[in-house]
Amino acid sequence: MAKRLFVKTYGCQMNVYDSARMADVLAPLGYTSADGAEDADMVILNTCHIREKAAEKVFSELGRLRKLQAAKAESGGRMILAVAGCVAQAEGEEILRRAPFVDIVLGPQTYHRLPEMVARASRAGGAVLDTEFPLEPKFDFLPETRAEGSSAFLSVQEGCDKFCTFCVVPYTRGAEYSRSAAAVLAEARGLAAQGVREITLLGQNVNGWRHDDGWTLGRLIRALAEIDGVERIRYTTSHPRDMDDDLIAAHAEVPRLMPFLHLPVQSGSDRILQAMNRGHDRAAYLRLVDRLKQAQPDLALSSDFITGFPGETDSDFEDTMDLVRRVGFVQTYSFKYSPRPGTPAALMPNQVPEAVKEERLAQLQALLLRQTEAFNQSCVGREMRVLLDRPGRHQGQLLGRSPYMQPVHVRMGDSSLALGGIARLRITRVHPNSLEGIPA
Ligand code: 5AD
Ligand code: SF4
Repeated sequence: MAKRLFVKTYGCQMNVYDSARMADVLAPLGYTSADGAEDADMVILNTCHIREKAAEKVFSELGRLRKLQAAKAESGGRMILAVAGCVAQAEGEEILRRAPFVDIVLGPQTYHRLPEMVARASRAGGAVLDTEFPLEPKFDFLPETRAEGSSAFLSVQEGCDKFCTFCVVPYTRGAEYSRSAAAVLAEARGLAAQGVREITLLGQNVNGWRHDDGWTLGRLIRALAEIDGVERIRYTTSHPRDMDDDLIAAHAEVPRLMPFLHLPVQSGSDRILQAMNRGHDRAAYLRLVDRLKQAQPDLALSSDFITGFPGETDSDFEDTMDLVRRVGFVQTYSFKYSPRPGTPAALMPNQVPEAVKEERLAQLQALLLRQTEAFNQSCVGREMRVLLDRPGRHQGQLLGRSPYMQPVHVRMGDSSLALGGIARLRITRVHPNSLEGIPA
């Protein structure tokens, strides 16, 4: 019997990929996607634990879903409620205690077992909890990825052994694990055969990807670039420590590798980088940026920053502002430090007052916004290859992504423009949230 599944995703791109894979795993059981929780027979919340109040948000969403679940039961139906992802991993027991109406709690490493969990939850009363880190890697048990559109994520690496002192990921996603090159290339070929033109390799430390016989990410990218149809390759998120010579060289040598790199630095102060356990200093990051730009002069960078890490002084913060001025970023994510339970930084004595964190964040974001705007302006008049992967918001428009991930819209009507294709556009205008182009 046809059943409807609604997956609500929080957090990073890895979760977006995982949500799609959970839907793939459940498809053989007859689940097709629902537009909202209202008309779903099963709802999965795929949660993120990285920043503040994550668990609270999940509990309030569960409160809302409980009402839908009850209404469904009254009319003789059933709604299976599952919580997945990093909050489930970190607080599984707590979820079942506080929200006993939840049927399934599963961590990010066990979703290949979802069919079995659904069967158990449907048969009996009582909740199913599976937050193990199983020996069998889930990837070996997943069906072929179904592509939607011309751009796809492909998860190649998971977990993190870096233990930045602010971060929960090493605890929720476990140790670093790399899929085999053969498995990744097979998935990529499958995606290309379904019309995918752009593949973004995903991993918590994607450039920490390793294969037994000495392959690192640079070599994997070269192999992907050989696949017919895969015209654009990206990878995210990278750690500065794992940026090896071969990967840097790939930026010079592989035209299909997009000239855009998300390379989080978090802070520009040596003292803070050390307290964060980042494993590199400011000079090493700046050197790395120089080498990357030598390899690929068109390279644009984006980054993540944290303001108000414990012990951060005005002068440390000034070092961050200075690093931002020197490097110039085109897109960024910046956050106030939020103490995450169970991480070393949460116990550091010199926590920064909330108001100071906020003030610094506002200053940093203002500078970063100016840089993004300046970069967007500098694109006017340039020709860019844009992957037109969506209909635009207005009728008669197509929306795509530039090599630098900027949304670009273009009026249809030119025969060279087709949904799913890569068009050569000349950028004519900058709008608040997108660029506009015409066929070049
Ligand atoms: N507080 C604030 N930001 C954090 N991040 C991770 N943990 C925290 C935290 N405790 C940010 C980092 C990371 C991004 C994904 O989230 O900048 O790169
Ligand atoms: Fe978290 Fe640091 Fe690992 Fe990134 S590298 S996932 S910030 S511990």
